[in-house]
Amino acid sequence: MLTRTFYSSTLFSALAAAAPTPQVPGYTNADASGLSNQLPTGPVATVFGPDSQVSAIEISVASAPPRKSSDVTGVTSHGPFSGTPTTSGAVMANATLAQSIAPLPPNPTATYYNVNGTLLNPAPAPYTPAGGLGTNGTEPRYMVNSDFDFESIALGLYQEWIELDLFNNGLAIFSDEDFLAEGLTAEDRTYIAFMAIQETGHATLLSNMLGEAAPVQCTYNYPYRTVREFIDFNQKLTRWGESGVWGFINHLDAREVGQMLSQSIATEARQQMSFRQMLGLHPQPVWFETGIPQSWAWTYLAPYISSCPESQTRLAWQNFPVLHIVNQPNPNRLSPNDTKPYEVSGNRTADPSDSLIPSDESCLNLNVTGYNCGPGITRNRSEPLSFPGKQVNLTWDAPGQYVGPNNSYVTSTSAGSPQFVAWVSQLNLTYTPLIVTGVNAGFTYQPASAVYEGDPAVNGTMFVALTDADLLLTPFNLSMINPHVVALGLYQAG
Ligand SMILES: *[C@@H]1O[C@H](CO)[C@@H](O)[C@H](O)[C@H]1NC(C)=O
Ligand SMILES: *[C@@H]1O[C@H](CO)[C@@H](O)[C@H](O)[C@H]1NC(C)=O
Ligand SMILES: *[C@@H]1O[C@H](CO)[C@@H](O)[C@H](O)[C@H]1NC(C)=O
Ligand SMILES: *[C@@H]1O[C@H](CO)[C@@H](O)[C@H](O)[C@H]1NC(C)=O
Ligand SMILES: *[C@@H]1O[C@H](CO)[C@@H](O)[C@H](O)[C@H]1NC(C)=O
Ligand SMILES: *[C@@H]1O[C@H](CO)[C@@H](O)[C@H](O)[C@H]1NC(C)=O
Ligand SMILES: *[C@@H]1O[C@H](CO)[C@@H](O)[C@H](O)[C@H]1NC(C)=O
Ligand SMILES: *[C@@H]1O[C@H](CO)[C@@H](O)[C@H](O)[C@H]1NC(C)=O
Ligand SMILES: *[C@@H]1O[C@H](CO)[C@@H](O)[C@H](O)[C@H]1NC(C)=O
Ligand SMILES: *[C@@H]1O[C@H](CO)[C@@H](O)[C@H](O)[C@H]1NC(C)=O
Ligand SMILES: *[C@@H]1O[C@H](CO)[C@@H](O)[C@H](O)[C@H]1NC(C)=O
Ligand SMILES: *[C@@H]1O[C@H](CO)[C@@H](O)[C@H](O)[C@H]1NC(C)=O
Repeated sequence: MLTRTFYSSTLFSALAAAAPTPQVPGYTNADASGLSNQLPTGPVATVFGPDSQVSAIEISVASAPPRKSSDVTGVTSHGPFSGTPTTSGAVMANATLAQSIAPLPPNPTATYYNVNGTLLNPAPAPYTPAGGLGTNGTEPRYMVNSDFDFESIALGLYQEWIELDLFNNGLAIFSDEDFLAEGLTAEDRTYIAFMAIQETGHATLLSNMLGEAAPVQCTYNYPYRTVREFIDFNQKLTRWGESGVWGFINHLDAREVGQMLSQSIATEARQQMSFRQMLGLHPQPVWFETGIPQSWAWTYLAPYISSCPESQTRLAWQNFPVLHIVNQPNPNRLSPNDTKPYEVSGNRTADPSDSLIPSDESCLNLNVTGYNCGPGITRNRSEPLSFPGKQVNLTWDAPGQYVGPNNSYVTSTSAGSPQFVAWVSQLNLTYTPLIVTGVNAGFTYQPASAVYEGDPAVNGTMFVALTDADLLLTPFNLSMINPHVVALGLYQAG
């Protein structure tokens, strides 16, 4: 009966789409008269194969390269670290040449400009315009080619390992019924399990490009209590996983590594979008996905790693103090304006929003368009999670806290007193003034800046930092913000 209702309403909209009147305002001259846009009619199928054969041969699966970790083996214990660190702080080079990178004028060779589209240089071969990197016939070497590459890919590997454990963890601790109660089916669970398996491939790829010192899987400490909080944490963790890579991928020395990495981060991007859909958020409320510096990705990730094995390769990136969004919009609320202070499951930077609010305040299982936040391909939110001009209250931790594997990293900042809130979203970095109201406390207002007209910059799961200056930075030199960062947070804008 349900099927039939659905069928006839789809048929109706298909006919409507073929109608000559414009279906989209301002879009005229859309002549569909040549189309026969109709669906098949008649009874639906009731008999399902196997009842038809196609031409095929018996073929065995070729042997494939081994994975670094199978899907479900590996470390499975979880919880906070309670021991004593045997080492402390990020791994350091023998010598450090300056406190920060000095700005320079544009590279003198960056002058190419083509006024008329004709080729300005001899072509090295037919159909092969001059230029490009790694295009002159040199054999590709799929290995990291500098300390920068090593540390970036090692960070990426720490991220792939937690994803492998995390996706499986939610499936292991919550039952089919727990998932169903939040609108996620057995097929959705199978999909999440598949995403975990994707991580075994990503971890293998990154390990191979690093060599024998590749970091291994660790033990983790997760912040969720319900399926929805698990999904919320996943959409946050994959957000910084993806953006962390966009931030460094074009700075890698080894273009070969960048090639492989982009082909794995494309699937991570799909994971992030799917977790948003499972949370009933708009899947991609932005035109561009943003990039962040490595030290930001490490700051977000480290608090969820409780311990790593003795011989683990350590990272060189900085851990910044936590910036708490006091009134972080709660995507579980039908009225996000009503979010209470600190309505999150814990006090780490990316802890998920509280899903255990009263059911008459929750948007889950609410069958009202514009308010329903159950899993869906996309959802309208009549009351937005946040909006330009919203007062955003902030508190932040002092540096010197022990975080990360074996509590062996220490949060630090080299910035002076905080004056600005930096909003990193899409292609943009926008600063708003910080109004300090007390010790490590203050507020600001969400900005209204746009990327291009029609695309407000701040939307989706995005990044905020407290800074001591409002330096002009763009996506390719954003990491120059690091010496100015006081604390780092994650904002649930839409
Ligand atoms: C660092 O310096 C020490 C002492 O000068 C030297 O023994 C060591 O080989 C250096 N390490 C690297 C990786 O260059
Ligand atoms: C296109 O521009 C190049 C470089 O300015 C110039 O040398 C060339 O003559 C132009 N070609 C045409 C067809 O205008
Ligand atoms: C080929 O290109 C690479 C950079 O992609 C460069 O380092 C190398 O010197 C070039 N080799 C030759 C033979 O031109
Ligand atoms: C964020 O995106 C959603 C979905 O497109 C939209 O409804 C909302 O207005 C956007 N928020 C802002 C601040 O532009
Ligand atoms: C971290 O802690 C674990 C568990 O206590 C221990 O097995 C491991 O050796 C420690 N790692 C380091 C690097 O100290
Ligand atoms: C949320 O707060 C803003 C600012 O006060 C207000 O404009 C908006 O109408 C509120 N939304 C609802 C649904 O009350
Ligand atoms: C965060 O919460 C934990 C557990 O409630 C507590 O032990 C810790 O002191 C808190 N940390 C900060 C910086 O507030
Ligand atoms: C949702 O509401 C609509 C209209 O009120 C109703 O037709 C539909 O059966 C409801 N769906 C569920 C799953 O309750
Ligand atoms: C969803 O939101 C869009 C943009 O705000 C609006 O045009 C559309 O009518 C809404 N759809 C429904 C079903 O409410
Ligand atoms: C934000 O802080 C201001 C004062 O600093 C306070 O009046 C306001 O209630 C706070 N808002 C929220 C949502 O916590
Ligand atoms: C946002 O980024 C775009 C693209 O780089 C740029 O053109 C625009 O000026 C930026 N907007 C703001 C408000 O910074
Ligand atoms: C970052 O790049 C922009 C150009 O995109 C430049 O205007 C700015 O000065 C650079 N910032 C620093 C600190 O070098």
